[in-house]
Amino acid sequence: MSIFDSANISVLLSAEELQQRIAELGADITKDYQDKDLIVVGILNGCFIFLADLVRHIDLPIVTDFMGLSSYGASTKSSGIVQITKDLSMVIENKHLLIVEDIIDTGLTMSYLLENLETRRPASVKICSLLSKPMKHKVSIPIEYLGFTIEDKFVVGYGLDFDGTYRNLPYIGLVTEVD
Ligand code: IMP
Ligand code: MG
Repeated sequence: MSIFDSANISVLLSAEELQQRIAELGADITKDYQDKDLIVVGILNGCFIFLADLVRHIDLPIVTDFMGLSSYGASTKSSGIVQITKDLSMVIENKHLLIVEDIIDTGLTMSYLLENLETRRPASVKICSLLSKPMKHKVSIPIEYLGFTIEDKFVVGYGLDFDGTYRNLPYIGLVTEVD
């Protein structure tokens, strides 16, 4: 049985739908940052596939860096406790940042991150998230570049995991045996 065609997972957003939307996001970002030096900051681990596709649609001389944040243990509910598992490797003072996230769920991780980054005095900070679950937001997070709004369901694939697995699915899927 192939995991790419698993009985436990139903396709929510196909690879084609993802690619089409990501090309649009890349074009918007390219237009908005014409005269600015942009650092694209990927939030590991979930961003790695989305970011890889997105940056290839940004037609600008960007710099990329990564931060590792962890707010989920082995469960599917947000703890609100955020751990920095890897910090940026560069100084961001007076730089324009675009944070690339896989999903904004409660928004607690992003809220913590924004507060943390503000202390480093960047010129601007904007957010690009592939997915958002507005019904679950506990804090208000401005998402300038949003791929898709989804319902309050746990999703996997295209970088998103369930307990570490399924990140390599080429689509966004719903795990049918998980709430
Ligand atoms: P938040 O702090 O509740 O916004 O959650 C942020 C992080 O939780 C995301 O960056 C994901 O890593 C993870 N997460 C939230 N919802 C899902 C989901 O449906 N599938 C997989 N991971 C999720
Ligand atoms: Mg994440």
